[in-house]
Amino acid sequence: MKTLLTRSAETAASIVKNGGLVAFPTETVYGLGAAVFDAAALAKIFEAKQRPADNPLIVHVSSVSQIDLLTATVTESARLFIDAFFPGPLTVVLKKSPAVPILATAGLETVAVRMPYADLARRLIDLSGTPIAAPSANISGRPSPTTWQSVLEDLDGRIDCILQDEPTVIGLESTVVDCTGVSPVILRAGSITLEQLKSVVAETRERDMRNDAAIRSPGMKHRHYSPRAIVKLIGPGHEIATGKECAYIGLHRRDGDFELSKICETVEEYARNAFEFFRECDRAGVRVIYCECVTATGIGAALMDRIARAAAG
Ligand code: TXA
Ligand code: MG
Repeated sequence: MKTLLTRSAETAASIVKNGGLVAFPTETVYGLGAAVFDAAALAKIFEAKQRPADNPLIVHVSSVSQIDLLTATVTESARLFIDAFFPGPLTVVLKKSPAVPILATAGLETVAVRMPYADLARRLIDLSGTPIAAPSANISGRPSPTTWQSVLEDLDGRIDCILQDEPTVIGLESTVVDCTGVSPVILRAGSITLEQLKSVVAETRERDMRNDAAIRSPGMKHRHYSPRAIVKLIGPGHEIATGKECAYIGLHRRDGDFELSKICETVEEYARNAFEFFRECDRAGVRVIYCECVTATGIGAALMDRIARAAAG
């Protein structure tokens, strides 16, 4: 299959309407989209990404009215989060409508819904005339793509089209919050923080790793965000190796020669650049990537989650 590169949302939408796969930019990372009510198209997402069948997809909408097509009931907490944070980098999990194919939800009775902030993403959904199911547009297990070139690196010849745009502005995936229970539970950290969610629904809590996490968010158990290089987390006092095979990313400068190094001025900049840095390291043949730990508040919580998972392999 030849992968078409285009900047035209119209061209990309016509491919979605015809059951094709289109990678498209959002404010978080690039997604790999297909029409949500087309089960054959959804199956192609899993094949193209080599995604395990038990990992459900996020469904992207461009209007609040589309949420009713996907869900059985919208709970009070979800309604409040939708009012406060849609469009934006937040995904709410709700009871699914029977119309949503079980492939999209990996057999679960719930569906994950998000309205991206990025204009081009919402235009694509509008022009396609359907909500779009889309996981991140990488081969499963690899770092999520924040540039169209990184989508091409993983999926060239495996998908119909890439809708090209600038690098994504946030760089980490959306916050996922389960709104089906009595109190909302954060299943995946993102740039909408626990503090922000609590300011809208005070009972919101982080997931309890010991109990229901594996059942509630099946995708979290798979290998994630991993470059080929080994990722090591370091604090200020840690001795690290330098030289051709080593790379470093963090907020503070470290002495020594690295094959690649990136000093970020803010945690936001670190979050925006981390996944692309991992990919650059792989292209340069780096063996070890040292990542400086940050305080796990604000977007730092999501960044620490991703680099810790990358370090775990
Ligand atoms: O920012 C994002 O969320 C990006 C862009 C493209 O929107 N998408 C993304 O999708 O990161 P993906 O497939 O890489 O991650 C989806 C996450 C997984 O951890 C999955 O398990 C969880 O959402 N998820 C999806 N549906 C779920 C459900 N019904 N219940 C619990 N977790 C669900
Ligand atoms: Mg992903």
